Amino acid sequence: DWTMANYAKTAIDDIKKKVGDGKVLLALSGGVDSSVTAALLSKAIGNKLTCIFVDHGFMRKNEGDEVEEAFKDSGMNFIRVNAEDRFLNKLKGITDPEEKRKAIGEEFIRVFEDEGRKIKSVDYLAQGTIYPDIIESGVGDGAVIKSHHNVGGLPDVVDFKDLVEPLKMLFKDEVRELGRELGLPNYLVDRQPFPGPGLGIRVIGEITKDKLDILRDADYIFREELEKAGLSKDINQYFAVLTNNRTVGVKEDIRTYDYTLALRAVETTDFMTAEWSRIPYEILDKVSRRIVDEVEHINRIVYDITSKPPATIEWE
Ligand code: XMP
Repeated sequence: DWTMANYAKTAIDDIKKKVGDGKVLLALSGGVDSSVTAALLSKAIGNKLTCIFVDHGFMRKNEGDEVEEAFKDSGMNFIRVNAEDRFLNKLKGITDPEEKRKAIGEEFIRVFEDEGRKIKSVDYLAQGTIYPDIIESGVGDGAVIKSHHNVGGLPDVVDFKDLVEPLKMLFKDEVRELGRELGLPNYLVDRQPFPGPGLGIRVIGEITKDKLDILRDADYIFREELEKAGLSKDINQYFAVLTNNRTVGVKEDIRTYDYTLALRAVETTDFMTAEWSRIPYEILDKVSRRIVDEVEHINRIVYDITSKPPATIEWE
């Protein structure tokens, strides 16, 4: 009978059959799809799998460490590349959203190639492609090669024989179920969609390390309060955006001139259209107070009440 446990068993057997003694390389983004792909391959072929996790420095608070924590003792070869400086350099001075996206995508491929070239004789390249990706109606959650497909194509690492795409027949909720079956922690399996360029497109205007750190702290508080309030299950995507706007405020009788932070939360099934989420005022109030209190350089909070269309979910 059809259970996720049976599916996992069959998928593992299929991988073993296909890969044999070959070596497999996977770009791990920490998103649901690539994480489940990694867990499945690791169960099937152990140390014949090498995962390269390119940390571009645009992850949310603690996220890079969480990914490392989940995989470092799994028996596979896990390589984390801390490429924050490289990305910040590349993005210096760039303010246009599409140019940012393109630069991040390109740099991602370059970092992956630089690291991948150190690994000799790769036979297969694995990808976390899921069924909706194939029918082209879905959105990526950061299965990196796919989401940057339009900019960099497949990385020019090694001559590999074939692709391994073990999630190709699954929908997102099935991928999550498989992840749980394989013992992945909830914080990875239940992760909401996260764009490949990460916080790079949630810091409006030029990206700097300072702005990223401000955004990370504020975003963390927003997510924490929604989870505490039990709202996180009904809201499909929620995050903070650091606008490029500064306004006058007053804190402990001193004039401030600091950033405006926007909160975004949407309810949707397919992410093609989305309704802004009617978060209770009391929760918004708590989030707002905590952020201006706890995060330096933010003195104003706004809540985004536009749906998609005409707005998009992300601001860039
Ligand atoms: P928009 O902003 O277009 O976003 O309404 C729709 C969904 O797609 C996600 N998104 C991306 N995912 N790479 C991705 O893998 C990207 O460049 C990207 N841009 C947006 C967004 O988070 C939302 O879930």
